[in-house]
Amino acid sequence: MISGAFHLPHWIASRAIILTLINGPSISVSLTVARIVPPDSDIFRYIQTGNCSGLQTLLLKGQASPADMIESLYGTLDALLFALNCNQYEICQLLLSWGADPHAENSTKLTDSAANMAWNLSIECPSPANNARKHLIESTFPAPLDLDRRQFSLLHKTVLGLAYTNLPALLATCSPDALNARDCHGRTVVLMAAWRGDLKAVTEILAAGADSDLHDGDGRSPLHYAAMTASDVCTRALVWGGADVNKVDNYGETPLHCACSCARLANVEYLLSVGAWLDMANERGVTPLMAAVMAGDVGVVEALIACGVNGEVKDKGGETAVGLAVWGDQTDIVGVLVDKHKGRARLDVHNDSGRTVLHTAARYAGVQTMKRLLLSFREQPPGESSVRLGSRVDGQGMTALERLVERGT
Ligand SMILES: *[C@@H]1O[C@H](CO)[C@@H](O)[C@H](O)[C@H]1NC(C)=O
Ligand SMILES: *[C@@H]1O[C@H](CO)[C@@H](O)[C@H](O)[C@H]1NC(C)=O
Ligand SMILES: *[C@@H]1O[C@H](CO)[C@@H](O)[C@H](O)[C@H]1NC(C)=O
Ligand SMILES: *[C@@H]1O[C@H](CO)[C@@H](O)[C@H](O)[C@H]1NC(C)=O
Repeated sequence: MISGAFHLPHWIASRAIILTLINGPSISVSLTVARIVPPDSDIFRYIQTGNCSGLQTLLLKGQASPADMIESLYGTLDALLFALNCNQYEICQLLLSWGADPHAENSTKLTDSAANMAWNLSIECPSPANNARKHLIESTFPAPLDLDRRQFSLLHKTVLGLAYTNLPALLATCSPDALNARDCHGRTVVLMAAWRGDLKAVTEILAAGADSDLHDGDGRSPLHYAAMTASDVCTRALVWGGADVNKVDNYGETPLHCACSCARLANVEYLLSVGAWLDMANERGVTPLMAAVMAGDVGVVEALIACGVNGEVKDKGGETAVGLAVWGDQTDIVGVLVDKHKGRARLDVHNDSGRTVLHTAARYAGVQTMKRLLLSFREQPPGESSVRLGSRVDGQGMTALERLVERGT
């Protein structure tokens, strides 16, 4: 998951972390002792929302430290890595000025320092057009010195802008092996060009005879990466070049999953138009619809519904798309999912411990989301009266109303 980590949407930062909440010791704070703090602590909220003055105050009062760490699905992240993950570069600068170590390799699964990751991002991330961001990354983080470890060929370096070779001239001299050369992560040049949204390079490399489907160490093909970018031009070029629309990566995800998790509507619509599997579940049982819900994109959710997506699929935790939307308190998406002309989601579904959507709402959702759900009650299928739904009990014998009372105001 390493190379994919930064290309997952921000909900990884906001939601996935909550899933693995760890209550760390919250007693004394020291600048040198790393402590694991809960994901809902002020420091991580301020980092996530880019609240520099809030963070500065915490640091000044000694209530937080740049050494604080947060437990996430992708390993333990220190404050700097978390800020980088949230694209909060001003916060990164603040943390660095407070002594955060850009070279610390302090994660369990993401065994990489913030400096290394920032550098990867600045050369390999989507949209090279975004020069301001590239600049910011490069001026904030010192360049790491491990270019050799990456095993880039001259072709890789050319596509990444690290060598000033003329691409068409170089391609004309490349053997088929050289065209399909891979770096240390198994990434080919066409994959990198697609990831960067570089249509000209993708077209030229494919025209030179490169394989459009070779996957990297995560089992992701160039199409997975193209699908994560804002534009669909590279996706189209790859599909025209014969790329497999439904290539499944090591985590059970297709390019459509990637487009949905990154909330890339143009790519979602295009992939659906060329036969992307609508209801494919990944290894965690997550469908493209659930990925779109977690990414919080109502447009993508609507596009999937318009194609006839099956909203009743459950993930491995027994949650449906509407359950996830309620859990995330995403009122607009809940509205679309329960609308009788759109998602027509059922509210009587329950997860493996008997918790219905209404229980989830009582526990986690805000007033607006709850209102939207209750309004849709009268549109439920016959036989599921609101009285019956409301009297459902969960695994501990509690109704939704009892859960609500338990939660307080
Ligand atoms: C960045 O590149 C290095 C190779 O030099 C690699 O080990 C590391 O995993 C990469 N990090 C990401 C986030 O891709
Ligand atoms: C930042 O945090 C401070 C302290 O909690 C708060 O007063 C302020 O409103 C926050 N600013 C923003 C922009 O959220
Ligand atoms: C990394 O974190 C551990 C605690 O998990 C800590 O003991 C260690 O000192 C940290 N290393 C660095 C370089 O910050
Ligand atoms: C059902 O949902 C609740 C709340 O989201 C969760 O705590 C529980 O673990 C779920 N049950 C199963 C079996 O996944």
